[in-house]
Amino acid sequence: MIAFFLVWVFINNEQKLYLSRNKMILKYKRILLKLSGESLMGDKQFGIDNLRLSSYAKQIKELHELGVEIAIVIGGGNIFRGVQAEEGGMDRTHGDYMGMLATMINSMALQAALEKEGIKTRLQSAIEMKEIAEPYVRRRAVRHLEKGRVVIFGAGTGNPFFTTDSAASLRAIEINANVILKGTRVDGIYTADPFKDSSATKYEKISFDDAYSQGLKVMDMTAFTLCKENNLPIIVFDMDTPGNLHKLLSGEKVGTIVHN
Ligand code: GTP
Repeated sequence: MIAFFLVWVFINNEQKLYLSRNKMILKYKRILLKLSGESLMGDKQFGIDNLRLSSYAKQIKELHELGVEIAIVIGGGNIFRGVQAEEGGMDRTHGDYMGMLATMINSMALQAALEKEGIKTRLQSAIEMKEIAEPYVRRRAVRHLEKGRVVIFGAGTGNPFFTTDSAASLRAIEINANVILKGTRVDGIYTADPFKDSSATKYEKISFDDAYSQGLKVMDMTAFTLCKENNLPIIVFDMDTPGNLHKLLSGEKVGTIVHN
């Protein structure tokens, strides 16, 4: 019966579906979760809010228990931003490397929080720092995912002038993720800034071309183009509402999906 249902849904939606460990129907098998460093601050002005960190870890645990393969890229804006350095007269490249180190701090914090929840993790860094993390090796990352480990990719792409959104897109494509889930503080993409314009409405879905022509900021252009050209959908959703991640995977309409 379930098999018939799956075939029916597949034909109708042209969308593959997967069965979770407890036979729940899942929309995606392998995901790349992009978390914002700034969200990790919670209500603080700087750094890491332990409550927020542990809430993220618990949400990720729920997915992990379903058997979803999870890779994570986290930003570093709660600690340091490359552009900040430039404003202070520092060389942009220098600042970007500092930003990459900031993502490693967040990655290590998230790794510890996930392990506290009993999840096996592996942290891979784009910049070699082998005393604290494995170097990034694509085939090894995929093997870890297949073995059920959550893989965190730290230090961005390892290159200045790229954002962690670009790192997320690149890694997602490299590991053949089915989707990028971009966790933010808003619940999707709006026609205008919902904080400034009360008439702004939310898109349930939007094509890459429409998002581009309407000047909607989903990700920076490098990241956006990488996803478009490699046919990798992006879902922008509110990560600060517990339960959203689980809903997304079970097919409930959460956030906005950007697709070809
Ligand atoms: P499998 O061989 O597929 O089971 O993977 P594994 O990750 O368990 O193998 P390995 O024995 O290589 O790793 C054991 C532990 O060492 C894991 O926690 C890795 O993250 C860690 N590890 C492996 N390579 C490095 C490295 O270069 N630097 C650091 N800091 N840790 C590493």
